[in-house]
Amino acid sequence: MELSRRQFAQAILGAAAGLACARKSVFPQIVHGAGATLRDLAGQKGITYGCATTKQALSTDQEFAALVSEQCALLVPETEMKWKYLEPQQNHFVFDNADWMFDFAKRHGMQLRGHVLVWQEALPSWMNSITAANAKAVMTNHIRKVMEHYRGKLHSWDVVNEAIAFRNQGGELRESPFLRLIGPDYVEIAFRTAAETDPNALLVYNENHLEYDNADDQFRRDTLLKQLKQWTSRKVPIGALGLQSHLRTGNVPFSASKLSDFLQRVSDLGLKLIVSELDVAERGSESSVSDRDRAIEKTLDQYLNTVLKNNAVIAVVTWGLSARYTWISNYAPRPDGQPVRPLPYDRDLHPTSAWTALASAFEHAPKR
Ligand code: XIL
Repeated sequence: MELSRRQFAQAILGAAAGLACARKSVFPQIVHGAGATLRDLAGQKGITYGCATTKQALSTDQEFAALVSEQCALLVPETEMKWKYLEPQQNHFVFDNADWMFDFAKRHGMQLRGHVLVWQEALPSWMNSITAANAKAVMTNHIRKVMEHYRGKLHSWDVVNEAIAFRNQGGELRESPFLRLIGPDYVEIAFRTAAETDPNALLVYNENHLEYDNADDQFRRDTLLKQLKQWTSRKVPIGALGLQSHLRTGNVPFSASKLSDFLQRVSDLGLKLIVSELDVAERGSESSVSDRDRAIEKTLDQYLNTVLKNNAVIAVVTWGLSARYTWISNYAPRPDGQPVRPLPYDRDLHPTSAWTALASAFEHAPKR
C-alpha cells in the first residue's frame, strides 16, 4: 500500500522540524504500518531500488534478511562476486556463495546485480605472478567463465571498476596490474569480452569520487567524460555509468549544476546511470543523533534530488541497508566512537533520516 500524501508530508515535516523522537515513533508506523517501502516508492517512478549486502548477514540474521526482501528490488553481493572469491586459484571457479546470493534474490523477487569483474582490488594472491604475456588471457578467461555462469540472469554487471586516475597522479587511467600488463586498452577489451559472452547484459562502468565541487572530483568528471566519449565513439559496449556515491557530511562543496551538467553529458552519449554504492560517511562536527541525522538527510537530499532529475537513472543501490552491517564502521568510523548512521536503517533496524531522504527523493523524482 502506498503512503498517502498527507502521511508522507507529516513525516517529512516531522523530520524537517528536527523532531527526532517524533520521527522515531511516527516513521516505523508509516513505513511498516502503511506498508510503504523504498522498493515501491522507487518503482512507482520506474527506478529500481536495492542494496548491497553479504551472504553472512542474510544467512545468519533473519530479521535483517526480511527487511532486505521487503525494501529492495535489487541485491548486490558486497563481496561474493569479487575476483578472489570467484577464482581463488587460477582457472578454478567457486560460485557457491555467489549462487546463494542469486538464489536468495530470486526467492524474494529481487534481481541480482553483478559486482565486479575487473578491479585492481580484491584480487587473489596468485595474480601477483601474472605477466604481460598472459595478463590479457587471464582477464578475458575470468570475464568469460563468470559471465557464462550467469548468462541472461542478472540485472547488470560492473565490468570495470575504478579505472580513472586521480588528479596529480599523472595519466588518465589509474595504476593497476591490468593497465601495467595489458595497457590502456584493457577497459575496452574487458567490455568487448563481456558483450561477446552475454550479449544482452547491461554492462556498467563503475566509478568513485565524481560527486563534489572540488578540483579533484572535477578532474575525474572531465577525465571520465573524455574516456567515455572515446569508448562510445569506438562502439565499446558500455551500457551504463555507475556512480558509486559514497557521500560525506561536513559541508563539502557541492554544485547541483556542475553535477547535472556532467550527468547530462553522460546520458547524451546514450548511457544509462546507476547510483551504485550510496552511503554517507560523517565528516561534520555534529554530535547529537538528531543533528547528525539532519546533516545526513541534507547530504542525501541535495545529491539525490539533483541526480534523479536525470531520466537516465534507472537504479539506486545503497551500500548496505542497515548500520548493523556497513563497511563505513571500519572505513569511516566516527572519532567519538558513536555508531555510524550511513544507511536507511540503524543498528536496531529502525528507519533513519537516510530512509526519509531516499523516500522523499523517490517521491519527488520524475517518472521514467
Ligand atoms: C567494500 C566492502 O563493502 C567491504 O566489505 C570490503 O572489505 C571492501 O570493499 N568500492 C567498491 C566496493 O566498489 O566493492 C567496496 O566494497 C567499497 C568501495
